[in-house]
Amino acid sequence: MQNPFKPTAGATPPDLIGRAGLLDEFEYGLRQGSGAPGLLTIITGARGIGKTVMLSAAEEIARTHGWAVISRTANPGFLAKIGDDMLRLLDELGDGPPARKVTAFSAAGFGLTTQLPQERVPDWRRTGEELLGLLQAKGTGLVITIDEIHAVDRAEISQLASDVQHFIRQGLPIGLIFAGLPSAVSDLLNEGVATFLRRADRINLHEAAITEVTASYRELFSRSGIDVSPAHITEAAEATEGYPFLIQLVGYYLWMEADKAGWTLNEDNVQMAITASQRRNTLVVVESALSDISEKDRAFLDAMAEQDGASTAAQIGQAIGSKPNVVSKYRNRLIAAGLIESAGYGKVDFAIPGLRQYLRS
Ligand SMILES: Nc1ncnc2c1ncn2[C@@H]1O[C@H](COP(=O)(O)OP(=O)(O)O)[C@@H](O)[C@H]1O
Ligand SMILES: [Mg+2]
Repeated sequence: MQNPFKPTAGATPPDLIGRAGLLDEFEYGLRQGSGAPGLLTIITGARGIGKTVMLSAAEEIARTHGWAVISRTANPGFLAKIGDDMLRLLDELGDGPPARKVTAFSAAGFGLTTQLPQERVPDWRRTGEELLGLLQAKGTGLVITIDEIHAVDRAEISQLASDVQHFIRQGLPIGLIFAGLPSAVSDLLNEGVATFLRRADRINLHEAAITEVTASYRELFSRSGIDVSPAHITEAAEATEGYPFLIQLVGYYLWMEADKAGWTLNEDNVQMAITASQRRNTLVVVESALSDISEKDRAFLDAMAEQDGASTAAQIGQAIGSKPNVVSKYRNRLIAAGLIESAGYGKVDFAIPGLRQYLRS
């Protein structure tokens, strides 16, 4: 039996847990067409929480409604690549030879500079208008998804925002969905590079409820005839803390252990699977999350790791020798980066499972 779990970034899981209804507004927008609020959406959340998977789900919905989809990651030059995607779509849709020959946008020889050359911007818009016009005539439209806007070039994103705004003003059927870390998104919206994006719907992704993880595991394992007790299923589900990447890792290693043990799982197998998952999660998520923070941020996190549960600002301030206003500055920054979260009454706790254990070791 093929292992159904997908512990890989961006891979669609066998069961999309805890996300029911989140894309309803977007889907409604597709039926309304140009200018509908749900057609402008921003998905935020910590690493491994399922942003890329949500983008794929939105793309899938768009396709089933007959909309064309362009899907890009916000690497330098992504705007030109979207231009090329639009040309390709025009080619596929257009019956009859194109009215005018437009050369590719990204091959125009501006290699290392990231932005679309100024003189190509009108071409880009005209290509977009032509494509959107054709799609509108068919009663559909175009959805553009942009993943990982963390490191995005500001000029490029503001260019895209103003182009999309231009299309909307003309009543053309366009949708735009972004995904990124909370910090990147709040910076982007606060800097005023793309004021128009402040209107976007926000979907902030959280962990799934443990009960939903339990139900999903029970269903997947029993459907495959794997013999495992309800207590062990619950134990495994609790180890995931509802965190999507861990849900996939734990499921994957449980399946692997079951395969080795003749499609049955005992306490030892479950423990092995949980340990293997935590090790892999640390490697992939925790180390990458810590790779781009400052020393002071790290000291803040180390102070938190000394506590067994949530930490107060006073505890942290004392440990790092900082005044409350400084503590509050780092607190906000780490919350925005998706590393910690507010835990009520001025307390904070870790937002990534395994982070505390990692910092302690
Ligand atoms: N709702 C969900 N239920 C179960 N697993 C999920 C869910 N969303 C995402 N995953 C899994 O979590 C992992 C991370 O998803 P991904 O979309 O790459 O996260 P992000 O883009 O936020 O870093 C993948 O292995 C994916 O299969
Ligand atoms: Mg992602």
